[in-house]
Amino acid sequence: MDSILVRGNGALSGAIPIAGAKNACLTLMPATLLSEEPLTLTNAPRLSDIATMTQLLGSLGAEVASLQDGQVLTMSSHKITNHTADYDIVRKMRASILVLGPMLARDGHAIVSLPGGCAIGARPVDLHLQALEAMGAQLDLRDGYIHAKAPGGRLRGAAVSFPFVSVGATENALMAATLAKGTTVLNNAAREPEIVDLAQCLRKMGAQIDGEGTSTITIQGVDRLNGATHPVVTDRIELGTYMLVPAIVGGEIECIGGRMSLVGAFAEKLDAAGVSVTETERGLRVKRNGDRVRAVNVVTEPFPGFPTDLQAQMMALLCTAQGTSVLEERIFENRFMHAPELIRMGAKIEVHGGTATVTGVERLKGARVMATDLRASVSLILAALAAEGETVVSRVYHLDRGYERVEEKLRACGAQIERISA
Ligand code: UD1
Repeated sequence: MDSILVRGNGALSGAIPIAGAKNACLTLMPATLLSEEPLTLTNAPRLSDIATMTQLLGSLGAEVASLQDGQVLTMSSHKITNHTADYDIVRKMRASILVLGPMLARDGHAIVSLPGGCAIGARPVDLHLQALEAMGAQLDLRDGYIHAKAPGGRLRGAAVSFPFVSVGATENALMAATLAKGTTVLNNAAREPEIVDLAQCLRKMGAQIDGEGTSTITIQGVDRLNGATHPVVTDRIELGTYMLVPAIVGGEIECIGGRMSLVGAFAEKLDAAGVSVTETERGLRVKRNGDRVRAVNVVTEPFPGFPTDLQAQMMALLCTAQGTSVLEERIFENRFMHAPELIRMGAKIEVHGGTATVTGVERLKGARVMATDLRASVSLILAALAAEGETVVSRVYHLDRGYERVEEKLRACGAQIERISA
């Protein structure tokens, strides 16, 4: 298992290109199952999760070609030859559940393994299933698999009201509704940029969708969808992560491809902490104003609120802030696994349930730490950049799921960081 070695060496400056969004790409890829014609995605990120989705789609009969060093994906699902998403692939990645809606909508049947437990909480899929059931699907849970059928071979439009906001359930229902008979209205839908990106791609494929980006999405089902070419939206989580680099170590970084509209609530918190963010022609320029940031309180919420996927990284920053900050995690239970690792680096953090209280210290100290999940692993790298001495982050396979070429991007700004292959 690879590790990453970091030697904190002060301020970092330069330009960092931000990739296409992992979470957008993982939901756009299953959309290929909705059409017989090819779907091409440009600006795709090069990540192990994308390789896992490629493998899953391949197992269902789709042909996926990776071009231009993985930045272009051409997918063709002329025919779905296998309607079972196997446990061995699904257990590796929760986003696998997103093949359920499209397969069921196109061919009227699908069998998908239930995703297993996950390090950041229970994460059930009941809302996905409730939405599909409202659209007429008959569901049967047997041997760890969801067996789904649409009576008469086709889902029907329905009014779906989500009891709370779920990104994945909105995506599954949205895709399924494009080929259902009649009109579907999704109430209390997620408003994340990844949902907007999916709706835009589906519209290019011929879907009739209104209201994406608001909490009510209306879909008029059509008989078939065509092929399309679509660029994946910028990764707002990778963007936010690199925006934190100058915030934590000083210097000035321009995040190429970044846009304020993707990170509004996050940029407001940076501003309150004493970090300036300005729009440039190419992206966002970020600079810390003083020697240390100020403490700020953070509550994670669905978009447009502060994203749960930036909570761990923000905690790393606040470990070095002047004063005491309170972070409240409202999306996932058990998403503070990075706290004990940051404490090993000298951070002062107390966790009570879904709330973490962080009292900033002047300097963190290098240590051997362990990555526990994707966002936690990059928070440790941020902390390591700001720490005195050497930090070794082990289990970086988590990192490779969501951050492409992290060492290269940081080295280009002057960081001392290297991968140690085991
Ligand atoms: C997606 C992202 C993930 C991000 C999360 C929140 C992908 C592949 N993953 O995950 O990186 O952290 O959004 O922005 O895009 N829930 C249920 N029942 C369901 C579905 C969800 O109870 O059927 C709960 C979850 O356990 C969680 C909350 O709803 O507490 C929000 O989850 P959701 O928005 O669905 O997250 P994901 O789509 O899993």
